[in-house]
Amino acid sequence: MSLSNKQKTALIQQAKQAFNRAYAPYSNFHVGAAALTTNDTIVSGCNVENASYGLTVCAERNCIAQAVIQGQQTFKTLVIYTEEKKLTPPCGACRQVIVEFFESDSIIMAVNHLNDTKEWTVAQLLPDAFTPKDLLSK
Ligand code: THU
Repeated sequence: MSLSNKQKTALIQQAKQAFNRAYAPYSNFHVGAAALTTNDTIVSGCNVENASYGLTVCAERNCIAQAVIQGQQTFKTLVIYTEEKKLTPPCGACRQVIVEFFESDSIIMAVNHLNDTKEWTVAQLLPDAFTPKDLLSK
């Protein structure tokens, strides 16, 4: 799947806007995510923390949930934006949720305020993942 420069710029811009809306008073670690759906719409999400810390939801999962709410369940790519020198990879829980909705060769990209980027395929992020297909193998 090839992404135009225009789409890439728009994804980063939306992920940055979501980053600015993060609710992260406990960690102060803001994260924004933006996903491009297979019908070329962009959906975004940010991390939302809670005083009961374990209820925190990451930007990537909120982004995917927001897409599902809008009727979009298939995706081309997802961008994670932080303002960290070390690019932010998706956490383990988010990797599992990404696997549910993205193709194994889809690209997940981390980007920061310095415009550094790092890319992974979904399969690289979570090899030998448990997927909906495993539920059918009885
Ligand atoms: N966080 C994300 O939003 N995405 C990740 O993939 C890594 C972690 C959030 C959760 C929490 O609000 C903060 O970053 C620190 O862990």
